[in-house]
Amino acid sequence: MQRIITKWLGPLSIKRKLILVTMISSGIALFAACLTFISIELIQYRRTLLREVAILTQIIGNNSTAALIFNDEESANEILSALVYEKNVIFVGLYTSNRLFAAYARDEHIGPPPFLEREQNGHWDEGAGLNMIRPVTFHDEEIGRIFLQYDLSVITNRLVQYAVIVFGVFLVAAAIALFITQKLQRTISGPILHLSQIANRVSDKKDYSVRAEKGYNDELGQLIDRFNEMLFQIQERDRTLVQYQEELENRVLERTEALQQEILERERAEKEKEGIQAQLLHAQKMEAVGILAGGIAHDFNNLLTGIQGCTEMVMLENEISDPVFDDLRQIQMAVERAADLTRQLLLFSRKQPMAFTSLDFNKVLEDLIKMLHRLIGEDISINTHYERRLWPIRADQGTLQQVVMNLTVNARDAMPQGGTFTISTKNIILDEESCTMPNARPGRFIRISFEDTGAGMDEETLKRIFEPFYTTKGLGKGTGLGLSVVYGIVQEHEGWVEVTSQPGKGSRFDVFLPALDSRSEYTIRTRQTRLNLFHGNGERILVVEDEKNVRDFLARAMTRYGYDVTLASSVKEALMIYKKEEGRFDLLFSDVVLPDGNGVYLVDSIASHNPDIRVILCSGYTDHKSQWPLIQERGYLFLSKPFVLATLLEALSETFKSK
Ligand SMILES: Nc1ncnc2c1ncn2[C@@H]1O[C@H](COP(=O)(O)OP(=O)(O)OP(=O)(O)O)[C@@H](O)[C@H]1O
Ligand SMILES: [Mg+2]
Repeated sequence: MQRIITKWLGPLSIKRKLILVTMISSGIALFAACLTFISIELIQYRRTLLREVAILTQIIGNNSTAALIFNDEESANEILSALVYEKNVIFVGLYTSNRLFAAYARDEHIGPPPFLEREQNGHWDEGAGLNMIRPVTFHDEEIGRIFLQYDLSVITNRLVQYAVIVFGVFLVAAAIALFITQKLQRTISGPILHLSQIANRVSDKKDYSVRAEKGYNDELGQLIDRFNEMLFQIQERDRTLVQYQEELENRVLERTEALQQEILERERAEKEKEGIQAQLLHAQKMEAVGILAGGIAHDFNNLLTGIQGCTEMVMLENEISDPVFDDLRQIQMAVERAADLTRQLLLFSRKQPMAFTSLDFNKVLEDLIKMLHRLIGEDISINTHYERRLWPIRADQGTLQQVVMNLTVNARDAMPQGGTFTISTKNIILDEESCTMPNARPGRFIRISFEDTGAGMDEETLKRIFEPFYTTKGLGKGTGLGLSVVYGIVQEHEGWVEVTSQPGKGSRFDVFLPALDSRSEYTIRTRQTRLNLFHGNGERILVVEDEKNVRDFLARAMTRYGYDVTLASSVKEALMIYKKEEGRFDLLFSDVVLPDGNGVYLVDSIASHNPDIRVILCSGYTDHKSQWPLIQERGYLFLSKPFVLATLLEALSETFKSK
């Protein structure tokens, strides 16, 4: 039952439930009250009716006493006929000695009932009627009996009447109850509905700021209080959570920024490191190759000095018409080429002594331009754009000419189909911001740009072009030393090279060289000599040279041009001869690197005893072994091997003239 009710009521709203429960319970109550009332009323009514029937029977009996005593049937019937006004009386019969004496029947077809046989007085129900038998007495003696049949349908009518009234009352009461319930349920369901709406809003919109309104301090009021308190707590927790979340987000943001910064820093440092490592690697490679090249160059130079000198000597001793003369010229040319290669090697290894002097680079270019035209061929046109007052630089003209030549040859090789080669010069002032290249630094510079419209280079090639022996020109065509030499020379001049190039779009080499402070000027004298102008006058020369080739050449050359030569192959021997000859020498000509010592110190020690002695030093080495700084410091004349006869003779002549 409970389950059925729950199942039936369950899905309904609280409002309906309340109305329904109230209506059902009040209906049941009302119905029970009405039923009780009707039952009592009917019982009462029946009792009253019974009494009335008994009284009526008594009255009829009393009124009929005389007719019975006098056996007057007519008056008896007359008395009974008066009952015609009593509509509920169905039948009345007066009996004497069980004989129907007089009778009254409401309907004619109603006859005397069969109970006349009955002896006892009393009443009983039969069908829809009430039967009553009463004795008629006279002086306490029964003189007859009266039988009365009463129609009880009056009770049924009454019951129907009551039922109608009760139903009416029930309806009215139900309507009133419904109305009242409608009104009253609001006091219960209203707050619940309100609470439910608030709960929905909270869950839908996550709005914890709303509050349910409290009506009374009943259970619902208390529930609303608790609910509001719960909302407040959630709201507080929510606020704290939001705060934490914001704080967390801020921290994450800060940390992310810091991390990004860190990553950027690290990447920058990494790049810097890579750059430095690459530079270091490059420098180490250059150094290694430089040492190697320097070593080779030294030996070469010694050999070449011998070959060249001897060839020249033989040529001098033979007529031009002599068939051997051509062969000798071939040898001479080969030696020149070999000497050129050695010079490149030495330039590259940056061990070549340089003569720095104040230079106007525009002038250097102007002097070179004719030769460049020849070098580059007719298919390529050369444009020049010179800065009008190009700042002077402190530079070694010879090596810088080499730079121009190497870059020009590269441009030529990059434009086999012809094109345009543009050389321009420019005064440049660099500040911190404009120094984007690794080697760049702020200051005053001249920039010499070499731009071609040739094949250009891809990234890979660009990265490697300054590597010694890196070439794309194929075996026998390029040595891969050209740009390494450029790099070395420019560095020696405290400058740097920037390259921009794209495949198919040409290349541009910008050479930056520091501009000279106008006060520090250097001069260099260029000399053109003729051998015969440098003939000696029997001056005594002590030659100290360990290489036999060179020694022989020197001996022959000096003797031929009027000098008195004594030869020594080591420091020890030299000192011995010097002592033996008691220092009677005008000039000391010594190689720097000797098997048992250093030419510079040998010269120093002799010069300390004989300050008038002239000195010429020579060497195939140009690195630290050649003691170049020392030589410069002492102001000794220096010849780098290989040297031609003219250079040797000029140097000798110069030395003797100077004192
Ligand atoms: N102007 C240029 N245009 C295109 N590529 C160039 C240019 N200059 C140099 N290169 C590239 O750089 C490489 C190295 O040049 P580098 O001058 O050092 O050697 P090389 O020219 O190959 O040999 P060498 O100079 O001995 O003749 C070249 O082989 C070439 O690939
Ligand atoms: Mg080259």
